[in-house]
This record gives sequence, structure tokens and C-alpha cells, in this order.
Amino acid sequence: MRKTILITGGAGFIGSHVVRRFVKNYPEYNILNLDALTYAGNLENLIDIEKSLNYKFIKGDITDEVVVEKVFNDFPIDGVIHLAAESHVDRSISDPMAFIKTNILGTVVLLNAAKQHWKGNFEGKLFYHISTDEVYGSLGDEGLFTEETAYDPRSPYSASKASSDHLVRAYHHTYGLPVVISNCSNNYGPNHFPEKFIPLAINNIKNGKPIPVYGKGENVRDWLYVEDHAAAIDLIFHKGEPGDTYNIGGNNEWKNIDLIKLLCTIMDTKLNRATGESEKLITYVKDRAGHDLRYAIDSTKLQKELGWTPSLQFEEGLTKTVDWYLSNQKWLDDIVSGNYQQYYNEQYQNR
Ligand code: NAD
Ligand code: DAU
Repeated sequence: MRKTILITGGAGFIGSHVVRRFVKNYPEYNILNLDALTYAGNLENLIDIEKSLNYKFIKGDITDEVVVEKVFNDFPIDGVIHLAAESHVDRSISDPMAFIKTNILGTVVLLNAAKQHWKGNFEGKLFYHISTDEVYGSLGDEGLFTEETAYDPRSPYSASKASSDHLVRAYHHTYGLPVVISNCSNNYGPNHFPEKFIPLAINNIKNGKPIPVYGKGENVRDWLYVEDHAAAIDLIFHKGEPGDTYNIGGNNEWKNIDLIKLLCTIMDTKLNRATGESEKLITYVKDRAGHDLRYAIDSTKLQKELGWTPSLQFEEGLTKTVDWYLSNQKWLDDIVSGNYQQYYNEQYQNR
């Protein structure tokens, strides 16, 4: 029996790596990619697999019940891997409502469709919700987020993701829907939209523009290469315990300023610049409102129970990422020349 898997948000950064992995590794599955192609969705991310026989793209909005209903009517869906979301914290500060609509309402529309179409016969079915470590709030200098850490979201983005996590768990407890959730730390790698810190910095360094570092650059993030996240998603989808939550992290904490200095060193080498040249572009700007100080994940459960481990060291992953951006100039130019430019001007004019 072929399996039909609905992946939402598959044209985005992480979603495109998940779609590619499933299309290539599971020719016996039918992979459907439902994506609204917002500013963050880009079908160029999937150009290498778009003609695969086991892949189909459907343009549609997860908040639209008619669209989602049609997808569940037209295809015998066995599993959902739900990544579609508004994902940028800064945008959630300037426009929270878009986050409430897609991240909360959109998730409920999908949950309802799965519940109704699976009609209580949940054998072989799974609703996998992809979430973030930001739902746990902000850490001080010590400690790690575990699966038991109490939720304490502090931005409109993380509050909307926390809300969606609660709703997914509520559908499990109330209706018995088989669900699994994973909460991951910061991803980086190819196809990362250049509003996010690492690709934004790569683009600015390349073009000799200031690198905006919020506040004093002392905030800490735990970085994971995107393909390691996709590998974890694959493992959890196939081996995860329904009803369970898994934390995914890189065990790789960096202060923003230290990360940027490492990136500058790599870029100096790649661009044949004198050592220290790119660092001169570092510019401290006004801090993000409510900026969480530190995120760090304890992924012991995933490592022990399912045998996952991150494959890349940070310097190796960052070098691969820089190489990808430098050899995919058109991908970057197509984004940076569009509406993005207006967003960039608005976001950074007062900083
Ligand atoms: P992204 O912003 O790069 O991509 C989001 C995708 O969802 C885009 O293709 C967009 O077109 C699509 N989308 C948005 N609204 C939609 C809607 N209403 N209907 C259908 N499609 C819609 O996001 P990303 O960074 O790839 O994140 C993917 C998921 O992983 C999100 O749920 C995010 O919360 C989660 N996550 C991200 C990170 C990270 O570091 N980027 C870390 C942990 C968890
Ligand atoms: O932790 C997981 C989360 O990681 C995901 O859930 C989000 O979808 C994803 O966007 C990411 O959120 P962050 O806010 O941590 O990522 P961002 O790349 O926006 O910022 C990383 C850090 O860099 C953060 O401390 C803010 C800082 N920063 C960011 C930008 C865009 C700057 O200093 N300057 C910048 O210009």
C-alpha cells in the first residue's frame, strides 16, 4: 500500500528540506506539498524534485477550510507533517494577527480535517506538528529546555506556536487523534530566507553592508543544521510514540556576536578579503522588543529513545551554508529584489 503524506509549508526553508528528503528516500510514498506561497514560500527551493512521480504541489492556504477539505477529499491522506507557519519573530511584533491566523487557526483547520476524515479509525494515521523551542520562554545563563519545561512564550510568534501545540495535544486527549510534536532550536542552512540572522548577515557581508546586531549581541541561540532537523523529523514521523513530544537541538550554543565573528572569518576567506575586513561591518542596533536572552535544548530523549544525533559540527555547517549562498546568487537576488527590500527598509530604518 502506498502511503499518502501531506506536508504543509513545504515551499519554505525547513519544509523544502523535509519534502526533498521524503520524496527521495520514500519512492513508495505519495508526497503532497500544501503551501500558500507567502513571501516565505519559494518553489525554486524544490526545483530539483518538482518532476518526481511521487510528488505533487498544491497551492493553498491552511486557514481556508474549503481548500483543506478538498485536499482531504481528493487524497487518501495517512499522515500530516505540519510545518506551514508565519515564522519570523520580528514580523510577529509588527503584525501579530497574521501569526494568529496561520499558526493557530490554520492548525485547527488541519486538525479538524484529519479528525473528520479519519473518522475515529486512527490505525496507521499520524498528525505530526512541527514546533519551536521558543514556546518554553527564555533561559538565564544556566539550564536547558526539556520536554517537561513549562510553557512561557513571550513573543506573538512563540505565543501563537504555544497555542497551536496546546490545541494539537487537546485533540489527542479529547478525540484520541494520534499526534506527535517536536520542538526544535534555531535552524540554519541553504534556502534560509534572508530576513533571518545568518542569511541576512551573509548577504550583507557579501555586499559590504552593515551587519545589524541587536542590543549587545549577547543573546544565545542553539543552532542546528537544517538537514539534521529534517532527519530528526523523518525519524520521529516513523518511530515517534503517538502522544509524545520530542525536543530537537544542536547542543551548539552561540552568542550572536561570537557567531557573527566566526561567520565574518569564514566570509573573509571565501571572498579573499583581508582577515578582519568583514568584522568592520558589525553594527550594533536597537534591540528587538522583548528579546529572549537564551534558548538551549536538551535532546536526550530523542537521542536515547530514537537514536538521533546531529551530524555536522557548526563550523562545517556554516561553511557549507556560506558556499551555498555564494553559489546560488540568483536565488538570493530574486528574493532581495522584491518586496523583501521594502520590509528590510522598514525593519532597519530606526535601528
Ligand atoms: P518559513 O517561514 O521559511 O516557511 C513557512 C512556509 O509556510 C512558507 O513556504 C509559507 O509559504 C508557508 N505558509 C505560511 N502561511 C501559510 C498558510 N496560511 N497556508 C499555507 N502555507 C503557508 O518557515 P521555516 O523556518 O521553514 O519554519 C517551518 C516550521 O518550523 C514552522 O512551523 C516554524 O515554527 C518551525 N520551526 C522553525 C525553526 C527555524 O529555526 N526556522 C525552528 C524550530 C521550528
Ligand atoms: O528557536 C527557534 C526559532 O528560531 C524559530 O522558531 C523561528 O521560526 C526562527 O526564526 C528562529 O527565531 P530567532 O528569533 O531566534 O531567529 P532570528 O534569525 O530572527 O534571530 C536570531 C538571533 O539574532 C536573535 O537573538 C535575534 C538576533 N538578530 C536577528 C536579526 C534578524 C540580530 O541580532 N540581528 C538581526 O538583524
